[in-house]
Amino acid sequence: MVKATFLGHACVLVSDGTHSVVIDPFLTGNPKAAAKPEDLTVHAVIVTHGHGDHLGDAVAIANRNNCPIIAVFELATYCQRKGAKQVHPMHIGGSYAFPFGRVKFVPAWHGSAFVEDDGTIVYTGTPAGVLLFMGDRTVYHAGDTGLFGDMELIGRRHPIDLAFLPIGDNFTMGIDDAVEAVKLLRPKVVVPIHYGTFPVIEVDPDEFVRKVQAECPSVTVRVLQPREAVEV
Ligand code: NI
Ligand code: MN
Repeated sequence: MVKATFLGHACVLVSDGTHSVVIDPFLTGNPKAAAKPEDLTVHAVIVTHGHGDHLGDAVAIANRNNCPIIAVFELATYCQRKGAKQVHPMHIGGSYAFPFGRVKFVPAWHGSAFVEDDGTIVYTGTPAGVLLFMGDRTVYHAGDTGLFGDMELIGRRHPIDLAFLPIGDNFTMGIDDAVEAVKLLRPKVVVPIHYGTFPVIEVDPDEFVRKVQAECPSVTVRVLQPREAVEV
């Protein structure tokens, strides 16, 4: 069994009771943050792409926990330059067995650049989604992405117990495309993320719930308030 706690926006803490991993820890400056970076005890920090609302406090959290940042090569290298003491570079399609479980990066259709305080744009490789295999459970965090047909392949290759999908529209899939994504991925449980944090991504998660229940009745939808958790 794994427990996944929603920490606001796209940040998720996944734990099997022994090991904990945080994905996309944007907490400082996140109006929906349900934790402080210094409160997290983790064995790894996974970052899907280099946008500030995902990279967030990754370097500080990894260094304080003496653990690696796991990301695609360019983003991992960028984190190193920003002071991360341990990084583990990977890339799309690759997987690696860490002490806490296996991580595999999969495609996401989005951008990935960090905008420095002085406005300089630093490209940080391709954006990614991530599969996290912990215990006998498979968790998929889509990162930021539009809908794409290969989601069917991801779900077929790696039957998904729990999927975190963006629904906020504008920067990512909106509700109707996210419902299509559920049809392709066929997770046991789906949790909507990346909505409501800012006015431009304000959507009604209950509409997502209604549409998934109508079109994919075998899939359980859980809307989590920040700090709430789901167990699979
Ligand atoms: Ni993004
Ligand atoms: Mn984002």
